[in-house]
Amino acid sequence: MQHFHGMTLQWVGHASVLLQTKKGTSILIDPWLESNPACPKDWKAPKKIDLVLCTHGHGDHIGDALAVDAKYHPTFVGIYELTGWLTSKGVKKTVGMNLGGSYRFQDVKLTMVEARHSSGIEDNGTIVYAGEPAGYVLEIEGEPTLYHSGDTALFSDMQLIRELYAPEIACLPIGDHFTMGPRAAAMAAQYVGCGKAIPIHYGTFPVLTGTPAELREHLAGKKIEVIDLKPGESLQ
Ligand code: NI
Ligand code: MN
Repeated sequence: MQHFHGMTLQWVGHASVLLQTKKGTSILIDPWLESNPACPKDWKAPKKIDLVLCTHGHGDHIGDALAVDAKYHPTFVGIYELTGWLTSKGVKKTVGMNLGGSYRFQDVKLTMVEARHSSGIEDNGTIVYAGEPAGYVLEIEGEPTLYHSGDTALFSDMQLIRELYAPEIACLPIGDHFTMGPRAAAMAAQYVGCGKAIPIHYGTFPVLTGTPAELREHLAGKKIEVIDLKPGESLQ
């Protein structure tokens, strides 16, 4: 078991990550839970979720947003157009932001950062514009700084994330096809300068072929630890 100060980080599967801070704030990044095929059948839903961060509008990221709202009534953070769509569906507590901006919620300061991907919401047979895709940097009191890149290709401005925030832990997609694969993700980990990389967004569907073993090969000798969680497993 890795020690992680007082915080718990659970990989629910695919891109969904659940955080519980030492002070008790419960944060879900990307609400895709029960309908997520990577989410273990015996997964225990948390008692509460205070804050939900949405990286972009694709169904494998916000597919359970409305169900999570109905059950937990959390505050949803996302890019402006995406939270506007959530509001149109009846979500009451939203914080619409844009790239480069920060928002403070209890013991967490989060910053919305760039991602290179697309973002549209499938709604009743049409695709609704959902703004730009995003990643998040979370600076939590007394904890290592965390970066969740969302779905993204590699881009060289990830080096700015290192300059500005120096995240210790990075959740990075490695599956390939819809995002970067292991070779590019290894470079992303070096660009952001993390000490620990948690591979996500792989294995859920057959086309997501990247593996943590490949990520590890590409990071050989780089002093970046690959933390190969299984869906449902936690760092604490
Ligand atoms: Ni996507
Ligand atoms: Mn995705």
